[in-house]
Amino acid sequence: MPRIAYVNGQYVPHRNARVHVEDRGYQFADGIYEVCLVIGGKYWDLDGHLARLERSLKELKMRAPMQRASLIVVMQEVLARNHLRDALVYMQVTRGVAPRNHPFPSDIIEPALVVTAQRFDLDASDAQAEQGGSVITQLDIRWGRVDIKTVALLPNVLAKQAAKSVGAVEAWLVRDGKVTEGSSSNAWIVDQNGVLITHPKGHEILGGITRENVIVCAEELQIKVEERPFTTDEAHGASEAFLTSAANIVLPVTQIDGKPVGAGAPGPVALRLREAYKARARRLA
Ligand code: PDD
Repeated sequence: MPRIAYVNGQYVPHRNARVHVEDRGYQFADGIYEVCLVIGGKYWDLDGHLARLERSLKELKMRAPMQRASLIVVMQEVLARNHLRDALVYMQVTRGVAPRNHPFPSDIIEPALVVTAQRFDLDASDAQAEQGGSVITQLDIRWGRVDIKTVALLPNVLAKQAAKSVGAVEAWLVRDGKVTEGSSSNAWIVDQNGVLITHPKGHEILGGITRENVIVCAEELQIKVEERPFTTDEAHGASEAFLTSAANIVLPVTQIDGKPVGAGAPGPVALRLREAYKARARRLA
């Protein structure tokens, strides 16, 4: 059964899914994206993802390719045509195709929209969470507006590759001695008093949808949350660490830069939050 992608108004076999050489996403990284998790045919916090997509468009003064309701129809259709019930849905909007020139093209240029889906294996993700993963730290060399979910991800790619090359699952990015976030996830620690710490929202991190929901879950579980930057030293001395993203849900971090975090095994707070978040996502889907 061939994979199907949506590209600018058409559902096409994935292997033939193409964009133009002068798509501004390709030439300038002038585009934004979202990644949503779907389990059992239900989107986890679709409203959150669509609101963030709309915010990214607004921040970049980019037109929406279609109304929210129509976009949801396309997203559902991509799932249906790929016969997927558990999936990661990727959508990307760029400012469209125009002769290469830095300023925005005229308003008559249509934004370009691509939607794809890939199978997600929740059991494999759960098994990975039981094991946990290690992270390394890397300098955060990204631009000053990483709260906008743009496709300009080269620093993230380089950081993730550095992690992968030493067998780590993620790179935690460090600016002025503080961990901002991971290359494709938000970063969290639990201090020795059981307080959850994660970088506050602002221009220095992407406001993760999973992050938002995990904060609500923590409050429901009466776990204290401090939204403040934490240092690499605090991370090394933490009792637990974990990362969050649509693709990883909540993934315990067992080592940072080769040193064990706490007992060097997935911590109870991270695992509780993972279960609480899964339950919340299912409830709200
Ligand atoms: N990444 N920070 C960064 C830099 C990210 O790229 C992501 C998501 C997150 C977590 O956001 P959310 O919880 O909404 O997924 C934080 C996606 C999954 C990706 O690029 O594949």
